[in-house]
Amino acid sequence: MMKKVLVTGGAGFIGSHVVDMLLKIKMNVVILDNLSTGTLKNLDSSLDEVSFCEGCITHMEAVQNVFQLHPDIDHVIHLAAQSKVGPSLENPGADAGVNITGTINLLECSRKANVRTFIYASSAAVYGETSVLPIKEQHEVNPLSPYGVSKLAAEEYVKTYGRLYDMEVKCLRFANVYGPRQSAATESGVITIFIEDLINGKRPVIFGDGLQTRDFIFVKDVSRAVCQWIDEKSDSFVYNVSSGEETSIEELLKVICESTGQDYSPRFEKERPGDIKRSYLDNVSLCRESSWTVDVPLNKGLEETIDYYRKK
Ligand SMILES: NC(=O)c1ccc[n+]([C@@H]2O[C@H](COP(=O)([O-])OP(=O)(O)OC[C@H]3O[C@@H](n4cnc5c(N)ncnc54)[C@H](O)[C@@H]3O)[C@@H](O)[C@H]2O)c1
Repeated sequence: MMKKVLVTGGAGFIGSHVVDMLLKIKMNVVILDNLSTGTLKNLDSSLDEVSFCEGCITHMEAVQNVFQLHPDIDHVIHLAAQSKVGPSLENPGADAGVNITGTINLLECSRKANVRTFIYASSAAVYGETSVLPIKEQHEVNPLSPYGVSKLAAEEYVKTYGRLYDMEVKCLRFANVYGPRQSAATESGVITIFIEDLINGKRPVIFGDGLQTRDFIFVKDVSRAVCQWIDEKSDSFVYNVSSGEETSIEELLKVICESTGQDYSPRFEKERPGDIKRSYLDNVSLCRESSWTVDVPLNKGLEETIDYYRKK
């Protein structure tokens, strides 16, 4: 029988790619999303094949309704979140409501429904600024924003439910995910912002000297890393999902300019407060303890992303 997987945040950027992958590997997919930042357009190619439930994870009743409608959910992939640093600084209570209470609501319903695997999407934001690079999972956590704190708190709940109940739990800390369908409004949407600017004939803006580094990982590689843990066991609870490579913003823009055939001539503006200087995550543990490896190098992923925005 086909396994049934609940994907929260399935109408979002990463969630919609996870849904595509689940359908490809013949899973039965249920989505719970309140369409706050996600959109049904992201599900254009898959909406006919999934069961879409519109609802907010902060409302226990909405989550319960999904499990009543689908009492046979085998696995949960939890991606729904307040996923930006800015709003978490403006309204930390609302951020905590979605990211912490929302996660608890899902965990509660999942254990009551005897869900076998619960996969949680966490973030590199839990580490904050570190002096040791690349950052390994064992590195001390030191979030610099309420968003980082709420993602970390939710990790602890997920881990504790794994200890308390017979549920395999996994926590995946994503680096900077990029690819088609990413909204330019997200902080990690720098690639989308650069591409849209270049396509629209605008001069891209670099904040700071452009030497700040990030770890960019293509969304389809992330989706594979997520989906592979369905019904799988491993020794560790936390895995970084990253390219394991450090790319400066300057280098990144140069590659995008090359691919779009435009000159590299950004406008430099003052560094934004709180911007981390260097960040990249060690992915050795995930590569060693599963069959996952990075499939899509940055230049290939950028080509696919540029192609998507050109067609759009
Ligand atoms: N994009 C990245 O680079 C990145 C990096 C690290 C971690 N993450 C994590 O990955 C996950 C997905 O992020 P994304 O980039 O796809 O963001 P996104 O905003 O595109 O997706 C989030 C989805 O959750 C839905 N949602 C938000 N609040 C909800 C609520 N209260 N109830 C139900 N649905 C709700 C939104 O409508 C959206 O479809 C998040 O948990 C985020 O913290 C993302």
